[in-house]
Amino acid sequence: MTASNFDFVESAVAPGPGQALVENLYLSLDPTNRIWMTDVEQYMPPVQIGEVMRGLGIGKVIESNNHLYKVGALVSGPVGWQDYCLIDGQESWPFAVLPPLPPGVPLTLFMGAAGMTGLTAYFGLLEVGQAKAGETLLVSAAAGATGSVVGQIGKIKGLRVVGIAGGAEKCRLLTDYFGFDVAVDYKASDWKAQLEAATEGGVDISFENVGGEIMNAAIARLNMRSRMVLCGLISSYNDDNDANTRANLVPFLMKRASLQGFIVSDYFPKFAAATSELVSWVMAGKIKTKETLVDGLEQAPAALNQLFEGNNVGKLLVKLRP
Ligand SMILES: NC(=O)c1ccc[n+]([C@@H]2O[C@H](COP(=O)([O-])OP(=O)(O)OC[C@H]3O[C@@H](n4cnc5c(N)ncnc54)[C@H](OP(=O)(O)O)[C@@H]3O)[C@@H](O)[C@H]2O)c1
Repeated sequence: MTASNFDFVESAVAPGPGQALVENLYLSLDPTNRIWMTDVEQYMPPVQIGEVMRGLGIGKVIESNNHLYKVGALVSGPVGWQDYCLIDGQESWPFAVLPPLPPGVPLTLFMGAAGMTGLTAYFGLLEVGQAKAGETLLVSAAAGATGSVVGQIGKIKGLRVVGIAGGAEKCRLLTDYFGFDVAVDYKASDWKAQLEAATEGGVDISFENVGGEIMNAAIARLNMRSRMVLCGLISSYNDDNDANTRANLVPFLMKRASLQGFIVSDYFPKFAAATSELVSWVMAGKIKTKETLVDGLEQAPAALNQLFEGNNVGKLLVKLRP
């Protein structure tokens, strides 16, 4: 992505009947932004050329003609890549009014560990993966926003957790900060041997964020009746990497294993309860967070590339206001 893929346009904005005007504060940068920019078959309509780029974020209501959104309320939802947005409660990804923030809880938590990526970790591991104490969990892109929370929920639930990440520094973070049991550096030449040693007894749940060669290596470690949770395939969003059309299916048959894809929005009705549980885990110190923050909307196109280059640690966000 480069700035040349985007136009910066200014126009006047005022709330009509039933609408509220929101001053956007933080924008979440997500791998799915890249999916929305393509015309592959996907779970939402792709963003059309000329439309405001879709993006989740947090903002503050500054004018309102809608009783659901009081002036001063903090809201999270599809604010778009813009400084202000209009909302009317009819959006396909509903806006949520944030609960009062407990002291010491930063607003950005509701974009990360208690936001969309934390919820993805929560429902992917607990509902799709059916995690059980004593099992071995393998997580790819483990030092990122979703993966870091998956691993920590795994520890809360009594699993043995192995993370895969790129580089020694991220691997140290996994074990020393996020509390994973073992980390595998997929950028090291011996990473497959590292993975075999780290999963000596096999893998009961594989939380897949990457796809391609990493996914095939994980498939080879699956245990009898194991579950592969297909959360994402980031290795193919940005190019024509066709490795994801060649997954090794044989172990699924031989091991009676399952492979299930999911999209976090499948769980909308359960978001509020899961969010409070995630906040309580963060406040109790059971989930630790990291953020990578960039300043200003004009940085968003270039910053999105950090996700594909592995330059982010934890949740990648744009701070829209000083
Ligand atoms: N299904 C859903 O509803 C849902 C919701 C949210 C996110 N997701 C998926 O979850 C995954 C993680 O998303 P996130 O927002 O939490 O991003 P993230 O993990 O914070 O950032 C992406 C990370 O992926 C790794 N990566 C990128 N390209 C790679 C490649 N070719 N090979 C290996 N690793 C690569 C990089 O870490 P390294 O430095 O370790 O390479 C990078 O930091 C994505 O696949 C995303 O699409 C799915």
